This record gives sequence, C-alpha cells and structure tokens, in this order.
Amino acid sequence: MADMLIPMRTIDWDYTNNTIIMIDQTLLPREKRVIECRTIDSLCEAIKSLRVRGAPALGAAGGFGVALAAHISNATTLAGITHELETAGKTISATRPTAVNLSWGVNRVIGVIEEAKNTREARMFALDEARLIADEDVAKNRQLGEHGEKLLEDGDTVMTHCNAGKMACVDRGTALGVIRSAVEHGKDIKVISCETRPLNQGSRITAWELMEDKIPVTLITDSMSGHVMRKGMVDKVIVGADRITQDAVFNKIGTYTHSVIAKEHGIPFYVAAPVSTFDFEQFEEDIEIELRSPDELRFFGNYQIAPLEVDVYNPAFDATPMENVSALITENGVYYPPFLLDEVKIKS
Ligand code: MRU
Repeated sequence: MADMLIPMRTIDWDYTNNTIIMIDQTLLPREKRVIECRTIDSLCEAIKSLRVRGAPALGAAGGFGVALAAHISNATTLAGITHELETAGKTISATRPTAVNLSWGVNRVIGVIEEAKNTREARMFALDEARLIADEDVAKNRQLGEHGEKLLEDGDTVMTHCNAGKMACVDRGTALGVIRSAVEHGKDIKVISCETRPLNQGSRITAWELMEDKIPVTLITDSMSGHVMRKGMVDKVIVGADRITQDAVFNKIGTYTHSVIAKEHGIPFYVAAPVSTFDFEQFEEDIEIELRSPDELRFFGNYQIAPLEVDVYNPAFDATPMENVSALITENGVYYPPFLLDEVKIKS
C-alpha cells in the first residue's frame, strides 16, 4: 500500500475499505509502508511474521481480526456468525501464544456478540468494540506514562530492551510511554537501547522511534548490558511485558538477564504494562513460551551467519521472577513489592 502516512496509529481500521491497516514493522527503519489485511489468513501471516507485534498492538490486532471476520462473513443467522467468529478467534489467538493481549482482544470482541440480536448488530458491535480497544490502549498508555514518569529524575539514563514503544502498542508505548511523559515534563532523559537479537526490535524500532522524537538514544548489543550497568552508565531499566503472571514477567528474550544484572548493581528494574497484559490466574509454569524459526539465528536477513545444519534454540521470550522487579507501572498506578496482583485486578 502507500508509503507511511505518519502520524498514523500502528494498527487501525480502514473505514473506506473495511480492512485492517498497519505499519509493516518488518521493513522499519528502512521503509515506512502501510499494509492492508483483507482476510484472516493475511492477518495471521502479519502477526506470525511480526509485521504487527508487541503485546498491546496484538490486543488491537486480535480485536480488529474478529471485526474483520464479522465483516467478511456471509452468515445469515446469529448462531452462524457467532460460530464463524469463534473459529476465526481461535485461529488468530494461536498465531502467537505468549502475549496474553492477543487472546484478550479476541475474547473481548467475541464477548460483545452475545448482546447482538441479529447479524447486522453482531458486525456493528464487533467493530465498535475493536475500535474501543484501540482507543483505550492509547488512553491507558498515556495514563501509565504519567504514573511512571514520576519514577524518573531529570538527568537519568534509562536502559530498555526490545520495543515497548508506539509500534508495540496502538500509539505512544508502555516503557517508551513512560520516557515520553518524563521528557514532556521537561526532564532530560537519555536512553540506552539494547539491539534485541535475533529480530532487532531494539535497533530497528526503538532507536528509530526515539530518534524521530529527538530523545537521545545510544544503541548497544544485548551482551553489553552487564558492562554498562557495572560502569554506572544506567540509572534505571524500564521494559514492557507480554504477560504478567502471579509470579513472573514474560518479556522479550534477554529481559531476565538484564534484571539479574540490574539487581546485582542496585539499579531499579521497572516493568510498564497495561492491565490487559496481566494474567491474574496463572503462574510462570503454565505459560507457553513461543519458539521461533531456527533460521532467525542462522541468517541475518538473507545473509547466512551460522552453519545451516546447526541445532538452534530460539525462544522469543523469557520469564523474570517478581523478586527482580522493583515496580510495576500500569494505567491504574505504580505497584511495589510484594506485588499483590489482586490490587491491580480490583481497580481494573
Ligand atoms: O516478539 P515481539 O516483538 O512481539 O515481542 C514483544 C515485545 O514487543 C516485547 O517483549 C515488549 O517488550 C513487550 S510489548 C510492549
């Protein structure tokens, strides 16, 4: 589709064509292109290949996906369309298992169909709810940023991992939302962005986003985090989350390592995430960590960087135990240890 019409949201509904539109994040930062999903298959492909990624953005993708399934459905009965949406919802949710927001977004939109009296209402309610998820995401990230920015001081250098910025959300960002709010409050904040192997969301997306906003950013490899923290170059670490269970924070692979080093050096380790990322009922051992293609490690783009036959272990996420987390930043406020997740739940 067209070259990026920034500012646009990371993912949105195109009311002219009744399709899902999104910024293709696999092309960033070289190319800024908007793509369109007209089918559930194309949406699933976009999610699996990380054209749209990041837990809150996946929540919106799940919601819009069900709205798309409703729009393209030929069902003439309420039972028929409900069955089709449930099937589409299962297919969408299965594309990436770890970020809880994806199935949360799917289930939230399927939930409103129960109130529909006919297929026309089902289509209308589905799109309205998906749109609401997207709008709420932007508002919640702003609230979360305002709460979290109080943890940052003028002059701080903040290290982050992966991309928990506007591209991981509908807009604004979680971890980067906190940094953006601090900057808007007049604080001088510098960022160290870990490149985030193997798909480089930190170098391709976080560094790009921050440079677009003229927030000073320095790129390092993931393995340099111990060095920079030991050298006293980092005041705080802020990361996002893909799922927060009773006992752990699931986030991009490498996060756990940073949390251990931060703890060793007495550096606060903050996690910023909306309540939709919390999985109140489950524990670390219940969660499936997505394993991705070995070729992500054997190749860098099209360039071979390892023996083709080498065995590869490529988990996309790791779990950071709650004892390594200094605070959880949500739209409802900041929570400190011992984390009583029921308090977060009650307010939501
Ligand atoms: O595999 P991705 O790029 O979808 O990974 C998810 C993430 O973007 C990160 O883990 C992020 O820190 C949490 S989502 C705001």
